[in-house]
Amino acid sequence: MSPQIKALDAYEILDSRGNPTVRVALALSDGTRVAASVPSGASTGENEALELRDGDAKRYGGKGVRHAISNVIEVIAPALVGRDPTRQRDIDRLMIDLDGTQEKSKLGANAILGVSMAVARAGAKVTGKPLYQYLCAGSPSVMPVPMMNVINGGTHADNSLDFQEFMLMPIGAPTCAEAVRYGAETFHALQRLLKKRGLATSVGDEGGFAPKLRSNDEACQLIVEAIEAAGFVPGKHLSVALDPAASAFFVDGRYQLAKSGAGPKTAAEMLDLYTRWIDQYPIVSIEDGFDENDWAGFQAMTARLGSRLQIVGDDIYVTNTHFIRRGIDEQATNAVLIKLNQIGTVSETIEAIDMCRKAGWKYVISHRSGETEDTFIADFSVAMAGGQIKTGSLCRSERIAKYNRLIEIERELGNKAVFSNPFA
Ligand code: PGA
Ligand code: ZN
Repeated sequence: MSPQIKALDAYEILDSRGNPTVRVALALSDGTRVAASVPSGASTGENEALELRDGDAKRYGGKGVRHAISNVIEVIAPALVGRDPTRQRDIDRLMIDLDGTQEKSKLGANAILGVSMAVARAGAKVTGKPLYQYLCAGSPSVMPVPMMNVINGGTHADNSLDFQEFMLMPIGAPTCAEAVRYGAETFHALQRLLKKRGLATSVGDEGGFAPKLRSNDEACQLIVEAIEAAGFVPGKHLSVALDPAASAFFVDGRYQLAKSGAGPKTAAEMLDLYTRWIDQYPIVSIEDGFDENDWAGFQAMTARLGSRLQIVGDDIYVTNTHFIRRGIDEQATNAVLIKLNQIGTVSETIEAIDMCRKAGWKYVISHRSGETEDTFIADFSVAMAGGQIKTGSLCRSERIAKYNRLIEIERELGNKAVFSNPFA
């Protein structure tokens, strides 16, 4: 008889911001043990599945996750013991039904996702496959090109940048391991440039530098200079990707570029700004250029720039097929950011990806700004074969853990591994 789920445990651990999060431990009847940890966002979309926090001000400023943990132990575990861990869809469905709410607010998406990820790991063990192979529909081969967030702003850093993420994409690297090298060398070149100008080299939540620059433009200029200083050619070896995370600065119907002092902007002015930038800098991807409810803003951008670059929806879709469907119908973007904890189960995340594939859209597997050392998304990105991952800068071990896992997977795949520019 194949091994069954014997026991589930959960406990509070800390994420990379020092806030509590859920870790789930799962034991199988054959003695196999696996675990999974849940990440947490800061610039979250309104429609994300609910991250259950205790709200008890006496513990972790209300951010404790003891309720989520007791939901794993007292509600989910009894329903899962004795089940076959390879039945991922059935188990995820069972948890969705146990919860019974749209937003997973009863049990908490953090409780449900921790179990869902641990079940996937257990299923992989049972079948004797690495996770990246177990979750793959065919045979895995596509290594992702990383989006590396080397300058942090917005809600992820206390500096003068309105836009949240200025990223490197080593599109011209021959392998994923080389892409990591291109990124790391450019990251260090950027550090030297900042130092030379007397700017801070302290880092933000995702490990990117968080200098006090004069403008958002200056961040793009600095990245291009750093690429050159590292001996690479901008647009050939490394390009730029942005995540303004515009919902965070959309107030009273205007895009308030207040941190940089550029003042309020209309959607049309934002689109002009992005258009000027892609003429000026080697930008290949822009995520959340507009507020999550500004569908018209996204549509106008896709109509004008969609043939020239990847336009990614994050907060607007929250990895939810209901919103992605609308995005496809209304041509709001041409790509989707995929975050497991926005929807709360592995199966629903895969459904969201299937929808993107059918529409011919690109998708990017993503971390959260609050992460742990769990490397699930590295395996997941290879299994989903979308060719892109967003997993932070070239420092802070919760980010590096994912890069190191990708390097390991690429070695295992050997000459089967494919790494190519997703925009070629
Ligand atoms: P978050 O940021 O994890 O704080 O939501 C990441 C992103 O916006 O892509
Ligand atoms: Zn985003």
